[in-house]
Parts: sequence; structure tokens; C-alpha cells
Amino acid sequence: MSYSEKVMDHFSHPRNMGEIENPSGVGTVGNAQCGDIMRVYLDIDEEGIVRDVKFKTFGCAAAVATSSMATELVKGKSIEDALKVTNTAVCEALDGLPPVKVHCSLLAEEAIHAALWDYAKKNGIVIEGLEQPKTDIHDDEVAEEAY
Ligand code: FES
Repeated sequence: MSYSEKVMDHFSHPRNMGEIENPSGVGTVGNAQCGDIMRVYLDIDEEGIVRDVKFKTFGCAAAVATSSMATELVKGKSIEDALKVTNTAVCEALDGLPPVKVHCSLLAEEAIHAALWDYAKKNGIVIEGLEQPKTDIHDDEVAEEAY
């Protein structure tokens, strides 16, 4: 198994690592099978733009790299566009992941969705197209298909 240069770069120098105090939304998801956990913090302004985003990941190299890339991809985006940052988009931006590591990118997608879900709940709004995220992506059938 080998990682692309981009994966190695984002693993060695993760972007947006850390946390946000009083975030607009925070989401935590894990994968019970590998034991990895990812938490995403979002700062969303009045216009619904992701002003800042941070993550904390307790996981493998691919989980760190996908968190880093996923946060880069949602930063500055509208909620609607942030929702479009799928695990496939994250994988492509990283020049691919080894097949056994694709589930790590699902964790990143789901953590962002969980943070958006939290934001919507706190503000009493509904984000169109956003479904309630799973806290354990291994329960998710979509996750299974992506293996
Ligand atoms: Fe589980 Fe990477 S091995 S997130």
C-alpha cells in the first residue's frame, strides 16, 4: 500500500488542526471497527458561509490527511457547497487513497455533515439535502459499498 504525495503532505503537515471555541456546529463520528474518531468544528457566519473550520482526528494517516483536505475544501464555502464535499471529492483532491483506506475519507465527510447537523439543530433550521449523520460510519450501508 502506498500513499500519494498529497496524502503524505497533508498527513505530515495537517491544515486546520485544532479546535474552535464556541463553534457554530461541532460533529464527532467514529468507526467502531478501526477505532478511529474524527471531530470537526465549524464557524459559520450570518450569511451561512463557513468562516473557519478545524478538526481533531484520532486515527490513521489517511484519516488525518482526509480531515485536513476536507477542511480545506469546505473553508470559505456556503453551507450548500460544503455539503457537496463528498468523500469522493476528498479522495480525488488527495490524488486517491488505497482501497482499504477509502473508509477513512467517509469519516471526514460524515464529520462535516455531523457538524452541519449540529449547526442546523442549534439554529432551528433545516439544511436541504442533509440527513442525520451516523455517529458510527460502520453502520452506514453507503460506507460498506465504498470498500
Ligand atoms: Fe479507520 Fe483510517 S483506518 S479511519
